[in-house]
Amino acid sequence: MASSFLHHLGLIPLIAMLCVTVAQTNYQKISLGRSLVASDDSDSWPSPSGEFAFGFHRLENQNLYLLSIWFDNIPNKTLVWYANGDNPVPKGSKVELTSDGLLNLKDPGGNIVWHPNPIPSGVAYADMLDTGNFVLVGTNTSNVWQSFDNPVDTLLPTQTLGVDISVSARTAAENFTRSRFELRLIRDGNLVLNTIAWPKENKYEAYYWSNTVDSPDGITGNKLIFNESGYLYIIKTEGDVVNVNSASTIPSFPIRDYYHRVTVDYDGVLRQYAHPKTPRNGEWTAIWFAPNDICSSMNGERGGGTCGFNSYCSPGSTDGSPNCQCLPGFRFSDPGNKFNGCKRDAIQNCDLGSLRPEDIYDMQELNVNWPNSTNYDSLESLSDVECSKSCLYDCQCVVAVNVDGACRKKKFPVSNGKMLQPNDGKAFVKVPISNTSSSDSYTRIDWPKRSPATFSMVAKLLLGSSVFLNLLLVVAILLIVLRSYDGRTKLHRPPSLLDNNLCTFTYQDLKVSTDCFKEEIGRGSFGTVYKGVLPLSGTLTIVAVKKLHNMSQDGEREFKTEASVIAKIHHKNLVRLIGFCNEGPHKLLVYEFMSNGSLARFIFGESRPEWGKRIQLAFEIARGLTYLHEECSTQIIHCDIKPQNILVDDSFTARISDFGLAKLLISDQSRTLTEIRGTKGYVAPEWFRNTRITAKVDVYSYGVMLLEIICSRKSIDMERQNEAEQILVDWVSDCYKARKLDKLVEDDEEARSDLKLLEKLVMVALWCIQEDPTVRPSMKMVLHMLEGVCIVSAPPSPFPDGSISWNRQLSWHPVRTSSSLSGPKFILDKLQDCL
Ligand SMILES: *[C@@H]1O[C@H](CO)[C@@H](O)[C@H](O)[C@H]1NC(C)=O
Ligand SMILES: *[C@@H]1O[C@H](CO)[C@@H](O)[C@H](O)[C@H]1NC(C)=O
Ligand SMILES: *[C@@H]1O[C@H](CO)[C@@H](O)[C@H](O)[C@H]1NC(C)=O
Ligand SMILES: *[C@@H]1O[C@H](CO)[C@@H](O)[C@H](O)[C@H]1NC(C)=O
Ligand SMILES: *[C@@H]1O[C@H](CO)[C@@H](O)[C@H](O)[C@H]1NC(C)=O
Ligand SMILES: *[C@@H]1O[C@H](CO)[C@@H](O)[C@H](O)[C@H]1NC(C)=O
Repeated sequence: MASSFLHHLGLIPLIAMLCVTVAQTNYQKISLGRSLVASDDSDSWPSPSGEFAFGFHRLENQNLYLLSIWFDNIPNKTLVWYANGDNPVPKGSKVELTSDGLLNLKDPGGNIVWHPNPIPSGVAYADMLDTGNFVLVGTNTSNVWQSFDNPVDTLLPTQTLGVDISVSARTAAENFTRSRFELRLIRDGNLVLNTIAWPKENKYEAYYWSNTVDSPDGITGNKLIFNESGYLYIIKTEGDVVNVNSASTIPSFPIRDYYHRVTVDYDGVLRQYAHPKTPRNGEWTAIWFAPNDICSSMNGERGGGTCGFNSYCSPGSTDGSPNCQCLPGFRFSDPGNKFNGCKRDAIQNCDLGSLRPEDIYDMQELNVNWPNSTNYDSLESLSDVECSKSCLYDCQCVVAVNVDGACRKKKFPVSNGKMLQPNDGKAFVKVPISNTSSSDSYTRIDWPKRSPATFSMVAKLLLGSSVFLNLLLVVAILLIVLRSYDGRTKLHRPPSLLDNNLCTFTYQDLKVSTDCFKEEIGRGSFGTVYKGVLPLSGTLTIVAVKKLHNMSQDGEREFKTEASVIAKIHHKNLVRLIGFCNEGPHKLLVYEFMSNGSLARFIFGESRPEWGKRIQLAFEIARGLTYLHEECSTQIIHCDIKPQNILVDDSFTARISDFGLAKLLISDQSRTLTEIRGTKGYVAPEWFRNTRITAKVDVYSYGVMLLEIICSRKSIDMERQNEAEQILVDWVSDCYKARKLDKLVEDDEEARSDLKLLEKLVMVALWCIQEDPTVRPSMKMVLHMLEGVCIVSAPPSPFPDGSISWNRQLSWHPVRTSSSLSGPKFILDKLQDCL
């Protein structure tokens, strides 16, 4: 009762205010000779009411300080002015009002970092006023310098802004470096917001203006006033008053109860904020802002726009803040500043050799336009797909926008990007495929696959034949499915779903699904793989069930943890883990089934794929490996890259299998580990040396495999008549030295007519198989070399002249692999590095 009565009278704020002002401050005028030193418990110079203070503010998470003025009566010590935003000073720096009246900020070495400019003379003392204005007062009691005349990013009530004085935003919430957004009253009388360009402060087109021009030719007498009631207006030379903020909202936030400030925020928007004086731990609320939509207000031809080059702007939240995003395939130039544009590592390359653009690039679709970015070409009446394809096949093109009946190809860099309404047109962005991992949220355009004969035959059958034939076909397909179903798929119980769609199965389930492990489809170092059928999300799905050899019963939880880690890794060039079984000694992994078997079958078998297809597979493997090495949340070293571990899916895409398993088996010390280590012919020398295993072991194995793919033969082939050809890496390196690469592909007409690409691939492979791991490139670098993003320089000989190649040593001394150096303990230690 009583409290609501008090409330009625409006007494609560009043009482609270009394409490505030009773709080003692150690205010006094600052006399000559006084100083402050920057440290965590340094003093400050408060205003009489204690509402503002002048002193050192420590930057978040840094040992650096700003000489500044802040709201001192609220927990959030919001800065309203700072002297050295571009140049924070270390602990021990000092601000001093010298005995001869100079105000200096000095670093610990005594160098002057900042002083008022121009240097005022005749200073008697300094004073921190209750308005938030820090003043140097002359002997005749007038202010000879004041912070209000030298604003940074904030204006306070009672502050005025004259012509040509700029208020500049900081770079980020906690980065006080001056950014490119600024507010100014320009000479013709307009108050404008514009961006500027370093280093000469060229001004770009304004994105907000007050329409208060009064002096097109001379210098205006206009003034921007932030009066003590919180109103922001311009008094024109003739005395007219033009409101800048929305005057109607101000009475709801009376100065008696609220602190006010007007700030050019780091997102380029000018905002007026209010903060309740009580309770003190309230928040700053934006009560007015301009412009309304900064994205659409930036219309200049020059400069990068709100978000900078190669990005786009979309309206963010209700306080006018824009949302900046990079073009797909790009990332922020400066991760701490989303308004500074985006860049990419990969540069576009026009020399694709025998590759088609769609082997290297995806076109991604966005509802974005860059209306003020110059077009280098404009094509009338193309469909979206035609426009996208036209950009894909035009090596100069980065982005094409199909809008207003024309396909506009944009020059690089694109500037001032803006989100469009869904039906206003579409942009197509060319992105190197290595950048389109499955986590991308953009729509990817799938090109119709180049028709393999079978596909087009089925299509023709379906499209061109009678209903009867179609029926026959459907029945035939059903029969095939049912045959493999064969009554063995009744599950014990439905699989349970863990997070990220990882299923757990019982041993019984998997036994049934594989018909008692009947059909073996592969056998590797980690276990044996069987074909199975499981009802997954409502459809019968063929799966590959890998039964791990002789796992101990311990490590149940680790097994589950590792399996979940593997299951989280999704990439189009990796085989996906669907689920697992973890019942005592029975440890099984369930994978997607890859109908085309392993790469080994193709490159060493009868039906060698054509040259272009082989190269494409090599690219895909490189992308998968790059993903494992560099783009997963934790790096995964495969440790056993070889053609038997590369599978080929229905659409003839290469998919790496068995990744993450080395780690899984480490905890199981009961096993003999010798067979886990990489396979002879693909193993890097450091496996047998006393050095750490790094991702470079995979690079080595990839290099050997790349040569196998190029030459369609095994890396070690002792059957060959010509001894010089038995060890592939030796032979390749000899041919490379002798400049006779065509010998490597003697029976491959296509490869022989593409010697330039052949040479490039061989050079990349020779880089990969360098004996010194530090000389080998990273997988990402390998990918860049393959894609032509960077030039491939001549590789050094993988083995110094006279010495024997590593692979030949291995082939001569097979015993060496089981020497003491490679005993279980040693290998176990090495495997720790495969994490
Ligand atoms: C302090 O205020 C600033 C400006 O409104 C805001 O960005 C920041 O999040 C606030 N900090 C805290 C701790 O409330
Ligand atoms: C006080 O001195 C300053 C310079 O020292 C001068 O600019 C100003 O006009 C003087 N003010 C008065 C009221 O004399
Ligand atoms: C602050 O921003 C500037 C300009 O973008 C940048 O050079 C500087 O590194 C940033 N400082 C910090 C501490 O992030
Ligand atoms: C501030 O400006 C508003 C609007 O122009 C006016 O109503 C108010 O009286 C002014 N306050 C002061 C203290 O001058
Ligand atoms: C920039 O694009 C907008 C929107 O199409 C247009 O209104 C404006 O005139 C353009 N500005 C320039 C300088 O071409
Ligand atoms: C694009 O790929 C490059 C090189 O692989 C990588 O550094 C960059 O982070 C990727 N960018 C995005 C947005 O995924």
